[in-house]
Amino acid sequence: MATASDLTELQQRRALGPLVTKAVIPAAGLGTRFLPATKATPKEMLPVVDKPAIQYVVEEAVSAGLDDILVITGRNKRSLEDHFDRAWELEAALEAKGDTHRLARIRKSQVLADMYYVRQGDPRGLGHAVLCAANHIGSNPFAVLLGDDLIDERDPLLGRMIDVQRHTQASVVALMEVPPEQVHLYGCAAVEPTGQHDVVRVTGMVEKPDVGEAPSNLAVIGRYVLHWRVFDFLRETEPGRGGEIQLTDALQGLAQQHRTPGGGVYGVVFRGRRYDTGDRLDYLKAVVQLACERADLGPDMRTWLRGYVADMT
Ligand code: UTP
Repeated sequence: MATASDLTELQQRRALGPLVTKAVIPAAGLGTRFLPATKATPKEMLPVVDKPAIQYVVEEAVSAGLDDILVITGRNKRSLEDHFDRAWELEAALEAKGDTHRLARIRKSQVLADMYYVRQGDPRGLGHAVLCAANHIGSNPFAVLLGDDLIDERDPLLGRMIDVQRHTQASVVALMEVPPEQVHLYGCAAVEPTGQHDVVRVTGMVEKPDVGEAPSNLAVIGRYVLHWRVFDFLRETEPGRGGEIQLTDALQGLAQQHRTPGGGVYGVVFRGRRYDTGDRLDYLKAVVQLACERADLGPDMRTWLRGYVADMT
């Protein structure tokens, strides 16, 4: 039961504006970096140890209190919906065998959250994928979590971003310092300090800047908590870099309007563990690292890995 202090906290939060309760997971990209594995399987369904990448992302959203999840899907994405649905035959077979452990694990993915799906007919970019969520979101702030970007559950980020959004009533991006030679792979932010060690104000954004043209080494990573006004900017955004409608371009527009209601962009600087499972090398690192740290697999995996590395040198 809620205590009096919980209620006061809730009242204070309500006074700041609507609560963030909805998350959008864009998962309609073509995944070309991972072909041919992603020819008929979405990259978000690639297993990281023994769970598909997207399940980690859904669990992260739920841990931050978001239980209404809209997945933007596309061609070949049917398995995403099946994963979060009931699997009657599988359940019956496990029940008959008395395998309660596995039964609990497959049931978990179907009761995690309220899952909704919208198809992005034509993958016209991340900005276009987010715009597909406009009707579902309405006039509420919402989170966007990229389905191939994993944040280690021991380094929570989304809760902090939601707090910053509530206090600023603006939009919030996650930023991470990257080596200067890697900035051209990301959206990059120009920033100024706010007085809080992990929060900056974003004054401008560039998508995949050329080497030497990046305004900082702060890269935008796959977590956002956005004001719904972002949809107004996305509707006006022309295709940008790569012929795609870029979310970065709409955020650049919001950043320029930081004195108007719903305008402005802040960045939470993340210093924890993150894995980009859409990139082959990062994916392999994520699988090895997470397997080594698991209580069930870790001891055997570490022993084997030590021997394997020793043999290589
Ligand atoms: P990426 O930039 O990783 O693109 O998209 P991609 O097409 O999926 O992968 P590569 O680069 O060809 O290998 C970032 C996120 O935005 C989603 C992707 O599914 C991914 O989660 N996305 C991208 C969409 O939902 N729709 C799009 O049109 C583009």
